[in-house]
Amino acid sequence: MNPIVNGQDYRLVVGLDIGSANITCSVGQANTSTNSIKLRAISSISSSGIKRGVITNRNALIDTLENVINDAERMANVKITNTILSITGEHIRSLNTQAAIPLNRINGVKGGISERAINDTDIFQVLDLAQAVSLPIDRDILHTIPQEYLVDTLDEIKDPLGMTGRRLEGRVHLVTAATTAITNLVSCVEELGITVDGLVFQPLAAALATLKNDEMELGITLVDIGSTTTSVAVYYAGTVQHSATIPLGSSSITNDIAVMLQLSVADAEIIKMKYASAKSSMSSSELEIELPSKNGGLKRSVPEQEVSSYVEARMEEIFQMVIREISRADIKDPLTYGIVVTGGGAELRNIISLAENSMGVKVRKGKPINIDGAQDIADGPRHSTAMGLLLWPLFSTDHIQMEKPKNRSFKGLIEKIRHTIEEMF
Ligand SMILES: Nc1ncnc2c1ncn2[C@@H]1O[C@H](COP(=O)(O)OP(=O)(O)OP(=O)(O)O)[C@@H](O)[C@H]1O
Ligand SMILES: [Mg+2]
Repeated sequence: MNPIVNGQDYRLVVGLDIGSANITCSVGQANTSTNSIKLRAISSISSSGIKRGVITNRNALIDTLENVINDAERMANVKITNTILSITGEHIRSLNTQAAIPLNRINGVKGGISERAINDTDIFQVLDLAQAVSLPIDRDILHTIPQEYLVDTLDEIKDPLGMTGRRLEGRVHLVTAATTAITNLVSCVEELGITVDGLVFQPLAAALATLKNDEMELGITLVDIGSTTTSVAVYYAGTVQHSATIPLGSSSITNDIAVMLQLSVADAEIIKMKYASAKSSMSSSELEIELPSKNGGLKRSVPEQEVSSYVEARMEEIFQMVIREISRADIKDPLTYGIVVTGGGAELRNIISLAENSMGVKVRKGKPINIDGAQDIADGPRHSTAMGLLLWPLFSTDHIQMEKPKNRSFKGLIEKIRHTIEEMF
């Protein structure tokens, strides 16, 4: 998938991060000769019609998408015709698979076997085979990320092109999603006359924007704390080893505050943003937060420390679930660079300190660092996914993307994958 050509002398890339709290449209200008992206525009709007990656009100979502896209078009002074979407939700699953092909061919030599160098076709064939798992009829492959290649007994090969051997094995990380979730999301965007060039699982996009190559090589986990979901991607040896979605996010904290203090969700959100700290020991027991009175009743107040104790309990729960997902990656060595937290939920006060205590590893906040011109405009953790979507066409190693289908719409892409899988059997 190449960045789109917009009929002008530059190439545009457009990302749409469709979250439960915020929908963000980013427009970037790709310079393929320097392999860099410059931010042209970014617009963000409060979300409606989608919760936990599931559409709850199609028309409301389409209206919001139209508004956010119009804003971005005005800012960048371009007409948006194509986009890449982020996707998340409990329906997303991941698994690691592998496949192997023999390399020795009888090259016209009668009865003879000739050695030859591994070419692109061999690599494509082995990746195609590795993704040819039997999926339930209602699921599709979102990503096929190569992890490593093995040529005979040599392992940990990143690019086997040009090597010789008798057997080529490929190991991949597969991300699958519910077909209905994909088609419904894509159809909302297509309704606006915009072609969807691809869908990217949120943490994989956020990782491209926030992580450095060394971190991915020596081990790091990206944790995108959104409003209704927390998505996780574990990187080691330069690639994704495991990815998952946890159905809890920053709005779980808001709901806890609302229930415990008998407030509306809107009031609880204000209290969270203004006063909440992820560590109750770092908040004051003296400072009283004034609560909005109910139906003109008596004024109420609550110690800041009490609010933070609710926040801490919920964040601890989320971090324990993150640790469980990291253990599923089954990596023997410890992840040298620990954890990066990003997404709007990572803005919570004292979150790093709680995360380090709770998970016992080094934690840093992830901000988009790999896009030119994003400084001061889109450099907060909540912009990571939208920024990562711009980097996806240039830097992702996704095999599905490398297939360069003739029909560039996502529907065409899915058909092609199905076709490939069917051909394998
Ligand atoms: N300063 C802050 N303190 C605490 N929470 C914050 C702060 N800023 C934003 N948040 C929370 O971050 C969340 C929004 O984050 P984000 O925009 O990443 O979510 P989203 O991508 O829309 O959701 P999802 O990925 O779950 O669909 C909201 O729940 C909001 O309350
Ligand atoms: Mg999000």
